[in-house]
Amino acid sequence: MNLIESRDYFRSTLKNTYDTPAIDYYFKVLIQAFFKWEATIIGLQPRKILTKTELDQLMDAAKRLLASEPLQYITGSAHFCNLEFKVNPAVLIPRPETEELVEWIRETQLQTSKMTLLEVGTGSGCIAVSLGVYFPNAEIHALDIDTAAIEIAVTNADRHSAAINFHSCDFLTLSDWEFPLDRIVSNPPYISPEEKQEMQPNVMDYEPHRALFVPADNPLLFYRKILDFAQQHLKTEGELFFEINPKFLEAMRSLILSYKNYHIYERNDIFGKTRMMRLIKTV
Ligand SMILES: C[S@@+](CC[C@H](N)C(=O)[O-])C[C@H]1O[C@@H](n2cnc3c(N)ncnc32)[C@H](O)[C@@H]1O
Repeated sequence: MNLIESRDYFRSTLKNTYDTPAIDYYFKVLIQAFFKWEATIIGLQPRKILTKTELDQLMDAAKRLLASEPLQYITGSAHFCNLEFKVNPAVLIPRPETEELVEWIRETQLQTSKMTLLEVGTGSGCIAVSLGVYFPNAEIHALDIDTAAIEIAVTNADRHSAAINFHSCDFLTLSDWEFPLDRIVSNPPYISPEEKQEMQPNVMDYEPHRALFVPADNPLLFYRKILDFAQQHLKTEGELFFEINPKFLEAMRSLILSYKNYHIYERNDIFGKTRMMRLIKTV
């Protein structure tokens, strides 16, 4: 089979699952990721014969796409803040909304020369590593309960020469912490079980549920624990940055107001939903 025939095979196999522009995009991304070919090769050498190994790889990818597996798990790579991150099913695929959170931190902290920062629930390390690249003088700590996720995050930090101190631990039961903090950042699990029906199979069937879901009767548990932790370990005038579930905006506001020592700032994502919070500790 040649290149254009294999692209056509993709189109006919996947036509009931994706539209043609999406299929063509996936095909291009896959040949770039698997064979390091420029996408222009499809136009320039449409009759290039594929080896059996190349063909097997593409057929396997088509099968996985047909089963709704995310493209990023098939290629093992995702882009975030103009950096490439290794991903696998142990980690959440970095989202564009989270890039917006990192950009907000970058904009607001440009004047901050030195800081000690903790990221809670680092997953692929996309937030901590991007911040490490933006703020090379910062001391950055990042933790996650999942050791397989920490392994990926370490690889990503090495890939981008970011000096991050990783901690493999359960934040919900963490009792000892020895580093006074200037900033805490988190995109913790925040989806309630009722929202499962609205979610796509590519998320529900493939992404780690521990990264996504919280108990129905305690959806803000990570934020509450972070706020309690911050009472002790975040310095006065220190800042917290959260990605939040817009569905719990009112509950988040009430929770934060109950601590009585934060100025609250909110920000919408590109879809116009209030998705981010910045809190400045007053005392
Ligand atoms: C929504 S994901 C965020 C991943 C990454 N920071 C991102 O923005 O793409 C939440 C992360 O929290 C981690 N996590 C879940 N429960 C945890 C716990 N009790 N302690 C520490 N990390 C936890 C998950 O393993 C997951 O990597």
